[in-house]
Amino acid sequence: MKKLSNKKKARILIVEDEVIIARDIAETLVANGYKVCGTAMTSDDAIEKAVALEPDLVLIDIVLNHGEDGIQTATAIRKRIDIPIVYLTAYTNKEILERAKLTQPDGYLIKPFEDRELQTTIEIALYKHSTEKKLRESVCELKSALEATVNALATTVEMRDPYTAGHQRRVAQLACTIAGELGLARDKIEAIRIAATIHDVGKIHVPAEILGKPAKLTDAEFEIVQSHSQIGYDILKNIKFPWPVAQIVLQHHERLNGSGYPKGLDDDNILQEAQILAVADVTEAMLSHRPYRSAHDLKETLDEISQNKGKLFDPSTVNACIRLFKEKGFSFGD
Ligand SMILES: [Fe+2]
Repeated sequence: MKKLSNKKKARILIVEDEVIIARDIAETLVANGYKVCGTAMTSDDAIEKAVALEPDLVLIDIVLNHGEDGIQTATAIRKRIDIPIVYLTAYTNKEILERAKLTQPDGYLIKPFEDRELQTTIEIALYKHSTEKKLRESVCELKSALEATVNALATTVEMRDPYTAGHQRRVAQLACTIAGELGLARDKIEAIRIAATIHDVGKIHVPAEILGKPAKLTDAEFEIVQSHSQIGYDILKNIKFPWPVAQIVLQHHERLNGSGYPKGLDDDNILQEAQILAVADVTEAMLSHRPYRSAHDLKETLDEISQNKGKLFDPSTVNACIRLFKEKGFSFGD
């Protein structure tokens, strides 16, 4: 078998309660160029040694006679450190293998096994684990690049419109908290967070004099302001987010009774994420100072969304928002 470059460096922890078998495995490993950094006979010992020694791989017997079994031990080790796990077992019992499978091991060896099988399984496990680690790191880097891009977009629009500076961030905070209160899945909450952070990006197209006008807007000016939903959608539509971010932005001024813009969508035709964003947007905006009016107080604001519950806004979203402020002490963290 072709020797892999990482083999010589691999430090292996053996978790095996039968001394003779443990010694045999250790000898085989050393003969094949691996380093045995430790041997453990019980679950507690294995966890302690895994954390202290940080091996490159753990070979672990599924059946341990004292304390927790190998599967529980592997789960505990995985919670503490990210290392490849290879199970050793004399049993091919379906129930045990199913349990073991849930812990996503990097390999299995059924006893008795040949030296060659041991070597191949270890090499595959090391390779699989390092490939998955690199993949996870790439996903992390992409996520932070996405995060930075979204924040840059948010900052760009807020630099032109100081009156709404921080508005998008605070709306994102409230919208995500409402979504959490409604028990939405993490993925949906993430979509809301991203969309809310840039929901007014289309205001880049609205002249700064209109955005900062300290008086009531004319109909023509209001029409220009209203175009920001569609412009925001046009800016975002070609970005392949894993969520319908552009659609949420497009719909954040749609209202339940069809009186919103730009399309006059109603009821279920409006994405739930957009309905949550709408409530958070109006709530935050009312609580903030604007060039043409001073801030409303909390009572006025909650009364306003409450009066429009079922007309403009989704009832459960409004209820969740009111609950957050009145019962759960929500406040904007800035
Ligand atoms: Fe808006």
